[in-house]
Amino acid sequence: MSMSAERHGQVNVIPRPVRVSLSGTAPFALQPRMAVHALGGNEAQAVAQHLVAGIKRLTGMQLAGVDGREGDGVVLKLDAGMKNDGGELSQREGYRLSVNERRVEIAARTGHGLFNGVQTLAQLAQSAGGSAWSVPAGVVEDWPRFAWRGLQLDVGRHFFSVEEILRLLDLMALHKLNTFHMHLTEDQGWRVEVKRYPKLTEVGAWRAESPKMGDRKSGDGIPYGGFYTQEDLKRIVAYAGERFITVVPEIEMPGHSTAAIAAYPELGNQDVPGLTVSAVSPHWSVHENTLNPTAKTFEFIGHVFDELLPLFPGEYVHIGGDEAPKTQWQKSAVAQDVMQSNGLKDEHELQAWFVRRVEEMLHARGKRLIGWDEIQEGGLSPTATMMVWRDWKWARHALDRGNQVVMAPTSHLYFDYGQENTPAKPEFEVIGASLTTQKVYELEPVPDGVSAEQAKNVLGCEAQLWGEYIWSWDKLTYMTFPRACAMAEVAWTTGERKWEDFSGRLSKHMDRLDRLGVNYRRDDGMPARGDVGMGRTPRVR
Ligand code: ACM
Repeated sequence: MSMSAERHGQVNVIPRPVRVSLSGTAPFALQPRMAVHALGGNEAQAVAQHLVAGIKRLTGMQLAGVDGREGDGVVLKLDAGMKNDGGELSQREGYRLSVNERRVEIAARTGHGLFNGVQTLAQLAQSAGGSAWSVPAGVVEDWPRFAWRGLQLDVGRHFFSVEEILRLLDLMALHKLNTFHMHLTEDQGWRVEVKRYPKLTEVGAWRAESPKMGDRKSGDGIPYGGFYTQEDLKRIVAYAGERFITVVPEIEMPGHSTAAIAAYPELGNQDVPGLTVSAVSPHWSVHENTLNPTAKTFEFIGHVFDELLPLFPGEYVHIGGDEAPKTQWQKSAVAQDVMQSNGLKDEHELQAWFVRRVEEMLHARGKRLIGWDEIQEGGLSPTATMMVWRDWKWARHALDRGNQVVMAPTSHLYFDYGQENTPAKPEFEVIGASLTTQKVYELEPVPDGVSAEQAKNVLGCEAQLWGEYIWSWDKLTYMTFPRACAMAEVAWTTGERKWEDFSGRLSKHMDRLDRLGVNYRRDDGMPARGDVGMGRTPRVR
């Protein structure tokens, strides 16, 4: 970066752009009712609308609408022939932002690049006193380090409304995060409408109660549930798409499937002596229930895929695969028969066989499989992508075999973990552990000792918002921010990163989050807006 130290305060952008060169000449003054000139057709015009909205949200200033004319002022230019020197990702997502006293121009080869430039411009705008805002003169050339910059939300444990999801997508976009992973099915709730299997949501989306806040061993006696209709999901996917965010659905299997089995008991290991699964689980923790590995189950999965996958234009489908205890398969004569007839030596090989069948079904539907690192148990499919959450050795295991990985390690990216100075009140309860923003920032997603060629298979990283203790929108944002700001920079910024530099920019960025009404965690541990919501929002039929 060629930015000098004394000018540094003028570029409080998160994630930090790759190259910033300030000219020191007069800044560009943003004026109310200024037009945004969008050159390059409908896509440029659509992105320009985001600029108008972003400037309004962050500065309060209302620009005029968007036009397609050349001229000075604010210009967005889609230019497929533009040269970017940051490699393939800079072609896909890079942009160049040039500012002088007369003109602010964002140029990019793609709409996604323009959109990223818009996020930078909205953050570059700084108060010039009163209602005046200006943009410092200079050039920003920027592109991401990683293609996958993700956030996972577990709506299985706690459900969030479509409106809340859309707000989260806006906050992701501000930080140039581009992958929203929706964990849609769990032991504690199946959250997506499948028309062919209505009981998945009639039965599977509702639990009798939840663990009490601050006393996880007792139930609260309050029925809870909710699900997304397919229309809801279309809205979410469309809204995400307009912000260049890909939605990755996760349909968990073979474990974490109590809700599905409660709805359709024939999906479970019914021949296990004494086993009945008649209700969605009201408890947290790992459950023993797994899908049975029979043709009927694969038929079910195929039908679910047939209905749901067309809603998600992205390449990847997450199939979970984590925390699937083998106890029921060990006791099930049906599962043992499947093992024997397929020459599988143990239940881990059965899981690998299960995952490969599902992967074939995804390939037949034009999709790629991603799963938690347990998908290597019993043999990793050469074409699967692994989401690494436990030990870094699984990343090396996958990279050594030529597989792709996305890094989501508990050590740095489990945002359901607590932090120091958390108020000792029931509503602040967390799953445990401690993960500070600084620790998040210190993540280097490429494991030590891998070759440059292998490093290309590290697609990026993703923060995890497991939902057991995230029962309200205000708790969700408290757990997410500012840790997500740190991860965004880890995933975006090429080159050396320094905590002192980041934390200086972060304190200014918090003013932005205040303006947006985000209930982030302050340095003293308190929520910016005073509390985290007094309890879960009851969701009843
Ligand atoms: C996980 O946290 N069970 C992936």
